[in-house]
Amino acid sequence: MNARSKPVRKAVLPSAGLGTRFLPATKAIPKEMLALVDKPLIQYAVEECVASGIEDVVLVTSRGKSAMEDHFDRAPELESFLESKGKASLAEAMRRLAGLARLRSVRQQEPLGLGHAVLQARDLVGDEPFAVLLGDVVMTGPQPATRQLVEIYEATGDGAIAAAPVPREQVSLYGIIDHDPPIERDGRQLYRIRDLVEKPAPDEAPSTLSIVGRYLLPPEIFGYLERTKPGRGGEIQLTDALRQLARERTLWAYVCQGKAYDAGDKLGFLEATVELALADGELGSSFRAWLRDLKI
Ligand code: UTP
Repeated sequence: MNARSKPVRKAVLPSAGLGTRFLPATKAIPKEMLALVDKPLIQYAVEECVASGIEDVVLVTSRGKSAMEDHFDRAPELESFLESKGKASLAEAMRRLAGLARLRSVRQQEPLGLGHAVLQARDLVGDEPFAVLLGDVVMTGPQPATRQLVEIYEATGDGAIAAAPVPREQVSLYGIIDHDPPIERDGRQLYRIRDLVEKPAPDEAPSTLSIVGRYLLPPEIFGYLERTKPGRGGEIQLTDALRQLARERTLWAYVCQGKAYDAGDKLGFLEATVELALADGELGSSFRAWLRDLKI
């Protein structure tokens, strides 16, 4: 552990966006409650936190999104109903879900951007390093992406963000990382971030490494966010505060093992559904057989 590192105990899940890419499904239901197989997106993110050793989770929500809090609350009537029908293990699973993490929530009163959403969690996070997980990005792989970032923070005492290579012709869809050549640290290749560029043209992109939706940030990010002026789309962008942090301190990018799906996008959602359904213990083999026979 680096002498500057403090234990990472908290995570912030910004979940106050409007989910316009998924309308009309997200008109009355939060995007984060859309289910991949049988679990809503937000549950994948909370489970990733817990699997990464983080049990204090701050949900940043907005009007009309209380279904997320209900999802992680006890449901005594449902539990007794399931027990009365002989479904004790399902009742137990519902109880475990309610005890999964220590959840607190804070409201973002207007959707003023991802950076603004993270800033709303300042009082609940305090002077500690914390993870940020975008619930609409679902990550699969042998080790949780957040855990990988926690380990980088513990080794370096610096912030780190998850990155993924993308084809050059697609860089204009992503935030792209301008970075130094990689250095090796505890068997991992880390890229020191020089700058971040939102959606560059392919011939202007400084690299083909994109920002993925998992961050491990020092508490100083809040000061940068407070000073960040509205940027692209009139929103307070987390990326703008990260650019300042990277310039004045050290911020690493790391290509996490595993795959990232943008489940806030229809195609990404379908791709994630297929991968998770194929990996599902109960459904996997019959789903695979059905896919093989699918006449297209
Ligand atoms: P997105 O841009 O993917 O989410 O924001 P969105 O705005 O909900 O969706 P579209 O693009 O209109 O379909 C990335 C993350 O930041 C959160 C979102 O909930 C999502 O997890 N966010 C975004 C906020 O919490 N507040 C905001 O003001 C903006």
